[in-house]
Amino acid sequence: MCGIIGYTGSRPAGPLLLECLRRLEYRGYDSAGIALFDEQQQLYLARAEGKLDNLANRVEGRLPPAAAGIGHTRWATHGAPSDRNAHPQLDPSGRVAVVHNGIVENFEALRQRFTDRGDSFASDTDTEVLAHLIVDALDGGADLADAVRRVIGETEGAYSLVAITVDEPGRLVAARVGNAGGIVVGHGEGGADEQFVSSDLAAILPLTRTVTFLGPGEVVDVRADGVTLTDADGRAIERAPEVQPFDPVAAAKGRFRHFMLKEIHEQPDAALDAIRGRYLLDPPRVEIESFGFDEARVRDINRVVLVGMGTSLYAAMIARHYIERFARVPAEVDNASEFRYRRPVLDEHTLVISVGQSGETVDTLAAMEEAQRAGCAQLTICNTPGSQATRLADSTVLIRVGPEIAVASTKCLIGSIIALHAAALQLGRLRGVLDESTAREEIESALHLPAALGEALLLEDRVRELAARYAQFDDFLFLGRGLSYPVALEGALKLKEVSYIHAEGYAAGEMKHGPIALIDERMATVAIAVRDEVREKMRSNIEQVRARRGPVLALTSAGDESLEGVADDVLVIPAFDGALAPAVSLIPLQLLAYHIALERGADVDQPRNLAKTVTVE
Ligand code: AGP
Repeated sequence: MCGIIGYTGSRPAGPLLLECLRRLEYRGYDSAGIALFDEQQQLYLARAEGKLDNLANRVEGRLPPAAAGIGHTRWATHGAPSDRNAHPQLDPSGRVAVVHNGIVENFEALRQRFTDRGDSFASDTDTEVLAHLIVDALDGGADLADAVRRVIGETEGAYSLVAITVDEPGRLVAARVGNAGGIVVGHGEGGADEQFVSSDLAAILPLTRTVTFLGPGEVVDVRADGVTLTDADGRAIERAPEVQPFDPVAAAKGRFRHFMLKEIHEQPDAALDAIRGRYLLDPPRVEIESFGFDEARVRDINRVVLVGMGTSLYAAMIARHYIERFARVPAEVDNASEFRYRRPVLDEHTLVISVGQSGETVDTLAAMEEAQRAGCAQLTICNTPGSQATRLADSTVLIRVGPEIAVASTKCLIGSIIALHAAALQLGRLRGVLDESTAREEIESALHLPAALGEALLLEDRVRELAARYAQFDDFLFLGRGLSYPVALEGALKLKEVSYIHAEGYAAGEMKHGPIALIDERMATVAIAVRDEVREKMRSNIEQVRARRGPVLALTSAGDESLEGVADDVLVIPAFDGALAPAVSLIPLQLLAYHIALERGADVDQPRNLAKTVTVE
């Protein structure tokens, strides 16, 4: 959710923090702010409601020379987006400034404690109590790191923070409490005495690749010439920094108007990256370099539970088919936010597969912790090396599609589907239940996938035309069956995320059981009726919608003309056999959402109310 950045060193901190905030803005854009030490070593604070540009305009020409400071982009939880609720938040005397991500659950009780003794509060945020608590501890003789550790003991909830104090300009203390988003420290390169602290690796990678990730319950004391890592009780932790790869091109918008469009167009290459080295033909097999389960462990598994949220949940729904089809293990899917609250029955014979772009989604991490308590085997499918999901799981299959910046996920879904397909094939082989001809068919079709995705992108002009007409509808149904059911859910999610149009995805067979009551000439239906074993049934569902005067846009596979004249509009997508077919259907739906959003003048890359990484429950 919120983006956090801190810097201490000898470079001008203000411009550096603003530069990093640009890379963090995708995490939240309700407001932004920075706190620096000015020439008198007093705190200079600037905050502005709305996008980062508002802050940048406000500080232009006014930034004091400073060699340390903190910055924040906000996704509001407590208190409306406004200047006064923007971070950094200060204590009443201006001695301490804090940026924060996540939620302090007992903030009301804490706030009451301070108001009872006469302290005033300037915001509606839960963050502000952190500044009060830190000052309280400083007044009691603690130094900044001790004060932050004490705060951890007094607060409930999951969050991360960075604090600074005028007592010691140049020192930052950061903490990660639970799983509400990570903290990564970037160490100055080439012997430079400087350090960065951030919620996101991507924000600091252009500045340093040598980093240390914090685990839950860890505190880092940061000075320009070095850092000290401890647990919440102050016990020292030794952790060698790691070096992360950085591809400067991957994080740039290039010739595209929006990151979302760029990432949609990257999908053929992303698929290639996801497949490379893992799908092998002679003999046909999948080999995932990091797959951490041997034959005995895999044979011991009698059930698979897949968890994720949003788009990643839909990838998990597709993968349920893969696991059952190729590994012949009973598989179920759970929305991670519901999973732990229904006391799931789990044991060491259960394999829990979590799916996520960020590896920091709090609901998914909570589900993983539940699985860990029950002794389950855990595999995570993740696009972010070093994230908390990769640390919690026994084994990680990296999605390998490069950074995804647009809030609306596109290429990561394609990559997750491939990684899950590969994992299911590998599980099937290790369990001895995958026959060679199925393996060959799936591997050959996977190798054709990047080309099919490229062909699907050629439909963009036609999709743009359709978008111009369909943008007038305020309500959409997306229908699909089998593997296309999660595709329908994703089509609806993409449309609502970027265009704010009401859209619902349904299993097409479910339509008659209620949603059909909504159908009239003002409700558009997008039907995914590609070549598969349930296509004829999809055709009947389309007829049922048309019989009630509902306009239908149908996706069909090349070579199938039978829907011409049945649906109002037919979008012919490349024919693709094999379990990875949903990846091909997704491209026109992503393009449709994108172009409808443009027609409606929506902010495609930063849709209202959303955040890229959701670190609050
Ligand atoms: C996708 O377009 C969304 N913005 C959202 O549903 C996302 O997929 C979800 O928040 C899960 O994130 P994760 O993959 O990082 O866990």
